[in-house]
Amino acid sequence: MADSVRIGIIGSGGIAGAHAGAYKRMSDVEIVAVADVVPGKAAEFVQRHGLPAARAFDDHRALLELDLDGVSVCTPNVAHHRTSVDALRAGKHVLCEKPMAVTLEQAVEMARAAKESGKILTIGFQPRYDPNMRMVRSVVQSGQLGRVYYVETGGGRRRGAPGGTFIRKDLAGSGAIADIGCYALDMALHALDYPRPLTVSAYSSNYFGTNPKYHREADRFEVEDFGIALVRLEGGAVLNFKVSWAMHMDSLGNTLFLGTDAGLKVLPSGGAWDGTVGGVTLYHDVLGMHTESPLPLRPRGNLDIFYEKVRDFVVAVKEGRPAPIPGETIVRNQAVIDGILRSAATGHEVDIDIPAI
Ligand SMILES: NC(=O)c1ccc[n+]([C@@H]2O[C@H](COP(=O)([O-])OP(=O)(O)OC[C@H]3O[C@@H](n4cnc5c(N)ncnc54)[C@H](O)[C@@H]3O)[C@@H](O)[C@H]2O)c1
Repeated sequence: MADSVRIGIIGSGGIAGAHAGAYKRMSDVEIVAVADVVPGKAAEFVQRHGLPAARAFDDHRALLELDLDGVSVCTPNVAHHRTSVDALRAGKHVLCEKPMAVTLEQAVEMARAAKESGKILTIGFQPRYDPNMRMVRSVVQSGQLGRVYYVETGGGRRRGAPGGTFIRKDLAGSGAIADIGCYALDMALHALDYPRPLTVSAYSSNYFGTNPKYHREADRFEVEDFGIALVRLEGGAVLNFKVSWAMHMDSLGNTLFLGTDAGLKVLPSGGAWDGTVGGVTLYHDVLGMHTESPLPLRPRGNLDIFYEKVRDFVVAVKEGRPAPIPGETIVRNQAVIDGILRSAATGHEVDIDIPAI
């Protein structure tokens, strides 16, 4: 590989700007091309972000003909699958934005394409780079909770439903469950080492998004703004998951891990859950006394977790390391989302079957 890592960006909307900003801070990265399906949008992006050396395309397949090491996939959810699979088959490493895809089948095909090509497919969950999220996982993994039999997680905004591409079923696939729910699922499942999900019983609704009193695009609101699910996991634990873009409540509660020896409570850092951690308390018995031990938070300082995720991808590409957040694992996150949507649609518990990768 040349000294510089040659990068393309597919999709040039909101989050692509954050990817471009992160890459521009790296002296060993060159943004070589940008593609967007809206004619002229990639060219405008290149100008706006001061990328004179970057070529602009209206079709990601033209971008993939260039000599590139990797791409950032920054399209709406529905196009993650096609663009990532095409990029992997063209021999490019892929950093794909969250959620991984729209359906389980798409996620499986993406993971297979990564395996067959030997290229990286990493999914962009930047809260993984929050030192306190790492602490939560290390406490759960240390065994001090004993056998973890119940996990409760999710997140809620009082009024926080987005608009645009996020509320169109054909582009986003799902609403709050996939958009912010995928972060909460990743936090809980990663702490548990991503056990295989077995069954799910779920409910969803969209009373706020479809009400003009609460949403300016109510007539075009096609996805769910609230969802709740009970997910059975391999090994016997259950996950109680709840997520909301809008509700008459301040919060849907904290993340809880209940174990046979201790429990862990995780407070989100902001009002609206963004996957970063604001407080962690261990509930245990010390000398027979009920004890609550707040665990010291690891200071984030100036750490930019978004930059860290993009940097980790670049370093993995340069050093030939495996995917930092492997698509093959995140297929299980997508499988839960897929099961929730199926169960909510039918009103019954459904099985989750994940094909072999
Ligand atoms: N990690 C984060 O913090 C974070 C934050 C916001 C959004 N996201 C994710 O990033 C993705 C994009 O979100 P956004 O807010 O930038 O959306 P957006 O609608 O602003 O931008 C998406 C862009 O992709 C283009 N596009 C659509 N299909 C394409 C295709 N096949 N090839 C090339 N371009 C295509 C659209 O024209 C648009 O310009 C979503 O999956 C979203 O969930 C992640």
